[in-house]
Amino acid sequence: MAQRMIWNQTAYFGAGSITVIPEELARRGFTKALVVSDKVLVETGVTGRVTALLDGVGFPYEVYSDVLPNPPIENVQAGVAAFEAAGADVLIAVGGGSPQDTCKAVGIIVANPEFADVRSLEGGAATKNPSVPIIAVPTTAGTASETTINYVITDVERQRKFVCFDPHDIPVMAVVDPEMMSSAPRALKVATGLDALTHAIEGYTTAGAWELSDLFHLKAIQVIAASLRDAADGDPAAAEHMALAQYVAGMGYSNVGLGLVHAMAHPLGAFYSAPHGVANGILLAPVMAFNAASTGEKLRDVAAAFGVEGAHTMPLEEARAAAVEAVAALTRDLGNPTSITAVGATEADVPALAKAAFEDVCAGGNPRPASVAEIEELFRSLL
Ligand SMILES: NC(=O)c1ccc[n+]([C@@H]2O[C@H](COP(=O)([O-])OP(=O)(O)OC[C@H]3O[C@@H](n4cnc5c(N)ncnc54)[C@H](O)[C@@H]3O)[C@@H](O)[C@H]2O)c1
Ligand SMILES: [Fe+2]
Repeated sequence: MAQRMIWNQTAYFGAGSITVIPEELARRGFTKALVVSDKVLVETGVTGRVTALLDGVGFPYEVYSDVLPNPPIENVQAGVAAFEAAGADVLIAVGGGSPQDTCKAVGIIVANPEFADVRSLEGGAATKNPSVPIIAVPTTAGTASETTINYVITDVERQRKFVCFDPHDIPVMAVVDPEMMSSAPRALKVATGLDALTHAIEGYTTAGAWELSDLFHLKAIQVIAASLRDAADGDPAAAEHMALAQYVAGMGYSNVGLGLVHAMAHPLGAFYSAPHGVANGILLAPVMAFNAASTGEKLRDVAAAFGVEGAHTMPLEEARAAAVEAVAALTRDLGNPTSITAVGATEADVPALAKAAFEDVCAGGNPRPASVAEIEELFRSLL
């Protein structure tokens, strides 16, 4: 069996690393950029830190900054129009997962205009051409979209979020600069950090996991378990660790898939605009408990990564329970909600939520196959 791994051509890490962008643009021969970002980031001057570097060397660019959280199809179509109107030859994504994902869809459609409706990109669309080159600058320590082959778009009309995966969309370069993330409010750091933890744990236990992806996920779990509390409280060293750990998780899960937490989080985003990381944080420990019996020794490793004493020698059932409790305790300590009612879910919506989760592409990676009835039960237990 052939195992495929896809990563960025080039990636930079560390505080201040965005300063490499002008020389990389020149080295690659680009002539004009479309910067894809969002309004909050423009207003708070985060996007401006990158455009100031472009101004400094006189590199031409335009900015498209209408991207909304849980980005809708319309954001992608407007971004394609902005790229074409600008006459640009490179995309620079400055933002969290929403601008990153919008940027990927824009780059793919410009290079493959037959997918201009956006909906036809769902799943693994057969695009023929690589995306317009993307330089990805994340401003949250969470999605790792800068190093994944995935993007997630919301179909507002049909009330669904859909996942696209396409090797053609991998950004050519990622610049993971923790200073670009430092202005995020505490609640955003918590939510995005829990997204990263979910990637690491779902990626570690997903059906397609193998030795190489395990290395990334286990390391990411260790670092996130040790750093997320302090990073949320603004500690710069912990924030630097989180920036790296979320990327390392992305190097794994992008290549092997996720599971039921993401499958269930996507409808919560589509129905109630629940922030993605908040939804994952609510679901992660309960879904780990649901999956426990189908994860072999892996939750023992998760418990050990969280520093549970004796994790490697205690009975397996106990180690699995300890891993679930360690994640639940972290989620509680961070103040993430623990019920889906907190994001607006109601009993009446449970059948529709469960059906959408069952059909979500991430469900296929779950280590324990889950029926619609079992997913309904899980959602109900969290009301
Ligand atoms: N492509 C992937 O592989 C992948 C993986 C997981 C999630 N996602 C998707 O990514 C999206 C979530 O992304 P996200 O959690 O990074 O948030 P986001 O991009 O949706 O941003 C949420 C809010 O935080 C603000 N923000 C972002 N960075 C900030 C900063 N440094 N300072 C102040 N405010 C800041 C934004 O302006 C926005 O208002 C969802 O749509 C999710 O489905 C994609
Ligand atoms: Fe995610």
